[in-house]
Amino acid sequence: MLRKILVTNALPYANGDIHLGHLVGYIQADIWVRFQRMRGHTVHYVCADDTHGTPIMLRAESEGITPEDLINRVHGEHLRDFTDFGVIFDNYHSTHSPENRAYAEDIYTHLKTANLIEARAIEQFYDPIKEMFLPDRFIKGECPKCGAEDQYGDNCEVCGAAYAPTDLKNPRSAVSGATPELRTSEHYFFRLSDPRAVAFLREWTTSETRPGVRRLQQEAANKMREWLGADGDNKLSDWDISRDAPYFGFEIPDAPGKYFYVWLDAPIGYLASFKNLADKSDGIVAEDYIDAPKAAALGTEMVHFIGKDILYFHALFWPAMLEFAGYRTPNQLCVNGFLTVDGAKMSKSRGTFITARSWLDQKLDPEALRYYFASKSNGSMEDVDLNLDDMIARVNADLIGKFINLASRSAGFINKRFDGRLGAIDNDATLAFISAWKENSIADAFESRDYGRALREVMRLADLANQYVNDTKPWELAKQEGAEEALHIACSTALTLFRDLTRYLKPVLPSLAEKVEQFLNIDPLDWQGEWQPLPAGHRIDPYNHLMTRIERTRIDSLIEANRDTLSKG
Ligand code: 2FM
Ligand code: ZN
Repeated sequence: MLRKILVTNALPYANGDIHLGHLVGYIQADIWVRFQRMRGHTVHYVCADDTHGTPIMLRAESEGITPEDLINRVHGEHLRDFTDFGVIFDNYHSTHSPENRAYAEDIYTHLKTANLIEARAIEQFYDPIKEMFLPDRFIKGECPKCGAEDQYGDNCEVCGAAYAPTDLKNPRSAVSGATPELRTSEHYFFRLSDPRAVAFLREWTTSETRPGVRRLQQEAANKMREWLGADGDNKLSDWDISRDAPYFGFEIPDAPGKYFYVWLDAPIGYLASFKNLADKSDGIVAEDYIDAPKAAALGTEMVHFIGKDILYFHALFWPAMLEFAGYRTPNQLCVNGFLTVDGAKMSKSRGTFITARSWLDQKLDPEALRYYFASKSNGSMEDVDLNLDDMIARVNADLIGKFINLASRSAGFINKRFDGRLGAIDNDATLAFISAWKENSIADAFESRDYGRALREVMRLADLANQYVNDTKPWELAKQEGAEEALHIACSTALTLFRDLTRYLKPVLPSLAEKVEQFLNIDPLDWQGEWQPLPAGHRIDPYNHLMTRIERTRIDSLIEANRDTLSKG
């Protein structure tokens, strides 16, 4: 059955650079999208910038520009970074868009009609100089537990304690330095504690999305059990979805001076980006993927790739919002862990808080990173470690030593001795390769996002293909009288095997695969239909250099460049 899937990545905030930590989840999603398309499925892959909230408002102010100017600039930077890493969305939109406003208002209105919105007065810290309510992260003071100075309003970075900002000793506004005052204001809450929402979420989080496929990974399902509590005891609290002016966001209908909290309209941005794509496309109907009855009738799917830090928003608030507003709910959440570098948290002072742009500026191959991240991804929520020496060794050994080497060893003879034309294929060798090849098992590994296993199998095949070349020794055949045909067969067979390896690597290494397609002079590789060898008489292009080894000196410069970023502030 051919699938129709709307795939999204978490929307990055519009006030910071894309770094390698972000790229883990984007690369994982992009690989999955490319794999599904090679299998013949229809995929719409969208993302957007997450543009609202206090930090973006204050950041624009400190730069002396409007929030709109800031988010426009960052939109261009983000899109360029993703594109240069081969993460190619069908649409890269913005949560500050008319589509997003329309969906946010519609969802809110439905939730209100369903009696799931409640107004309640709450007390909050207010900055009397700046004349605004302060989010927790903009209040600083001494930790109530250990007394450490200069801690944020939500948790202490020294002792790890979590607390309310009102617990801080000597609190002050991080915006103006003023001592904050407690003030009362009316906020709107999404009543997640309502028995309907609780019952829905219990069902939603435990149900299968397709036969044998769960909506959530095991670790995520365990978290949900923790959050939802055992049957009968309801642990969910209502969710505060409004913020008071001044705020950069959408004003709530019929509530002047009240704005939707950024996290309300952020995931709605998935739908907005898709709607924007559909409206400018020829033939995509947004409602087919967004309306609950239409999506159910057509069997369209919606799959979100997110980081583990935002699971709570995506597994509780988001499906409940959609369900009770009459929208379709997600089929699957694909949750990735954090990135560590050389076993430690990314750090600006160590230079391991590496921006996407700096990788490119050092002329490092973006596909080397894609390959390494894929090799370390297993479809779980575990953290991914970028071990720099291991990456250099892995990329050079697998891609240059095993994969590219296969082509460079064979193509020269075809070009020099046979006018660029292939000959017959060694059936025994290709059959052995095919029977070892376990195509379905590689495909299953891609489907379940266990790219590490997929690549291990591909490299095992690369070993077999290289073994074939070592056994047939084309370089010796080339010197022997009367061995022309054997040489022709050996090189043609090696290039057919190389073509097959390229197919399996293509979701991970799309631009390298494209260069191979050009060099082999073949149509874009897909992953469907019967296996065929490259035909005898087929003409290939001269072999051109396909990929460069990574040198440690480049990585050292990369670390230095990112360390510099800090000292410049
Ligand atoms: O955590 C973040 O970076 C958020 N900007 C992610 C939003 S994902 C979606 F909900 F928009
Ligand atoms: Zn503390």
